[in-house]
Amino acid sequence: MSFRAIEWIDDASVLRLIDQKALPETTRYCDFATPAAIAGAITDMTVRGAPAIGVAAAFGMVAAARAGGDLAAADAVLRASRPTAVNLFWALDRMRRVWQGAAPGPDLSARLLAEARAIEEGDIAVNRAISRHAMAILPEGEVTFYHHCNTGSLATVDLGTALGIIRSAHESGRKTFAYLDETRPRLQGAKLSSFELMHYGVPHAIVVDGASAHVMRTRKVDLVVVGCDRVAANGDTANKIGTYNLALAAADNGVPFYVAAPVSTIDMATATGDDIEIEERAPEEVTGTGATRIAPEGAPVFNPAFDVTPARLIAGIITELGIVRPPYREGLMKLVASPLPPGPA
Ligand code: MRU
Repeated sequence: MSFRAIEWIDDASVLRLIDQKALPETTRYCDFATPAAIAGAITDMTVRGAPAIGVAAAFGMVAAARAGGDLAAADAVLRASRPTAVNLFWALDRMRRVWQGAAPGPDLSARLLAEARAIEEGDIAVNRAISRHAMAILPEGEVTFYHHCNTGSLATVDLGTALGIIRSAHESGRKTFAYLDETRPRLQGAKLSSFELMHYGVPHAIVVDGASAHVMRTRKVDLVVVGCDRVAANGDTANKIGTYNLALAAADNGVPFYVAAPVSTIDMATATGDDIEIEERAPEEVTGTGATRIAPEGAPVFNPAFDVTPARLIAGIITELGIVRPPYREGLMKLVASPLPPGPA
């Protein structure tokens, strides 16, 4: 069974989230009833991961409609919650196509709920399809992955993208092992991905971010697989800070570097990685860990939350419609033009 990190409770008109800030020590569910509260939960990373924040924002629009609120204002507050993951804007665009120009009332609320549910259920099917396609690139027999951040059940609705591939490899009966970057500064790898893989019984080891080149040089690593917050039209990908370093380490050690992402993460309106807005977060994420300060009081900090991995370092982008290989512009163009969304698995 997957963790259900995100769930719309229809009777109460609330979005129920696992508070990811409290994991792994505490599994705490919190309810959010308004677009502002849901936007706050996205900003403070109670819910995080590109697909999950898109789904959360979609239900934020349902909450607004149920309360008879101003939908344009709700849309704006949700759009301002985090800047880098395009899935947030993709989901809100889908919701906007339902509410824009429509008369408020129970019928509109019902149509918005149906659209949010479609986004949620679509994510489940898409993740399963990504894992199915990924099986084709795994070596025969034993497989050792390298992974960054958290891209599993906690970052999506159900299986996950990159971590879903790792879990699927394990569940297919292959001997599977994963190195998990701890992922400074928020430690999504150490806190969340390890928590998930322990739950699913997948053998793994947490490594500090700076160990990746050493691990790839001295141990067997078959492939790196990471998630993604936005794919630009040229195949550059934005993902959690440290992903670019990992791609460089992989290139120097001849380890193929794959990105797993739903088609909704592809943003053909963004020409290259240079055009992707990179979120900067509070200095306290870097100067302390939990309640403990680790840097001198007042130490200056630069804290970009994401980086861009150039397309030239990426062996392939694994989507629900297949694996795109370089040259990316043509491959991605064909994919986004595809009329065939994946059906249920
Ligand atoms: O800041 P976060 O934890 O939201 O960042 C998450 C990532 O970078 C993930 O790799 C990405 O969103 C893909 S999740 C399937």
